[in-house]
Amino acid sequence: SQIAKITVLPGDYIGPEIMKAGLAVLKAVSEDEFNYQIDEQPFGGAGIDQKGDPLPQATLDSAKNSDAVLLAAIGGPKWDDAPKRPEKGLLQIRQELNLFANIRPTAISQAMQKYSPIKQVEPVDFVIVRELTSGIYFGKPREIDDHHAIDTMRYTTDEIRRVARVAFEMAMKRNKHVTMVDKANVLATSNLWRRVVSDVAAEYPEVRYDNSYVDAAAMKIISAPEQFDVILTENMFGDILSDESAEITGSLGTIPSMSRGTDGPALYEPIHGSAPDIAGKGIANPLSMINSVAMMLTHTFDRPDLADQINQSVDDVIESGNVTPDLGGTASTTEVTDAIINKIRERRNAYVENDV
Ligand code: NAD
Ligand code: IPM
Ligand code: MN
Repeated sequence: SQIAKITVLPGDYIGPEIMKAGLAVLKAVSEDEFNYQIDEQPFGGAGIDQKGDPLPQATLDSAKNSDAVLLAAIGGPKWDDAPKRPEKGLLQIRQELNLFANIRPTAISQAMQKYSPIKQVEPVDFVIVRELTSGIYFGKPREIDDHHAIDTMRYTTDEIRRVARVAFEMAMKRNKHVTMVDKANVLATSNLWRRVVSDVAAEYPEVRYDNSYVDAAAMKIISAPEQFDVILTENMFGDILSDESAEITGSLGTIPSMSRGTDGPALYEPIHGSAPDIAGKGIANPLSMINSVAMMLTHTFDRPDLADQINQSVDDVIESGNVTPDLGGTASTTEVTDAIINKIRERRNAYVENDV
């Protein structure tokens, strides 16, 4: 069969540490099952250091010619004063690949319950669909001088409609409930979102559609997260709410994401950053990266079977308490990764034995 092309962007600080873990799991689960080649490229701070640009041309070309992009994390204090910061490269690759929809799941599985800082009675399983290539991150004018600064939150109806459709399509495959989060009591952009999204909602009569102001939504994510299915929101609100949502699973270091457009490669990355505070210590949680690999196998390569092997093995390891310090454990990045790989192999051997 055809060989899958994956562009790999390890990035900065803990980026390379967790990418190594993700690739080791990909290799283990792919054995005899999935053919791929990786093209590793400098990106973010590493792009600045090696090529003088956070998104070097060769990196962008590789991404554009790939079937999927795997990114770990970029940025950090080393490049805070760079004329073009690593974060700028991230915004640029999202725009270049037209990755307007960012999907960030939050689930507290049975195995995760004991790590959650909140007490839940009902299971939690929702996704945030975050608009990713517009809003205040990209709007013009954008200026700063000694006495004032301007950022602009701007949206067009087309930008809202296409990401809204992603959310409603997703809801159709889940629990048929979309909550749009905005600040329609203050912002003009939010009012435009309400108009456009209620039109889109009318195309999906089976989906229950409601709204929440962002401040209240931040509260409900802690007090009643089980009430959400699909949260649809604009770029900056989605950034903030997704870190908050991640943390109710026990750690920001567990949550993967997918960023997609209409065609072309999707990009898979943890939602967290490069964690400079723990880099080089070998204790970064690799689950966000490993879960991103599983998401890639499902959504780009149509191998939910392989993703399941990863997910079940991750659950086994979480259940066993063999976890990194952010989840209260004492295991290293490598120990967690090796434990997951061992579980994958055990599962495979058991399957082969049952087969004969
Ligand atoms: P961060 O997400 O890197 O870290 C926040 C906290 O979470 C830190 O205490 C960190 O140690 C912890 N954490 C994050 N991931 C972890 C993991 N896998 N295992 C264990 N602990 C983990 O946020 P920050 O410190 O505000 O940002 C650091 C840099 O990362 C900044 O330059 C920021 O712009 C950048 N950033 C990049 C991305 C990305 O690459 N997509 C996302 C967010 C932030
Ligand atoms: C994220 C990050 C980025 C964002 C930054 C690094 C530009 O926080 O992926 O969530 O705000 O989108
Ligand atoms: Mn963020």
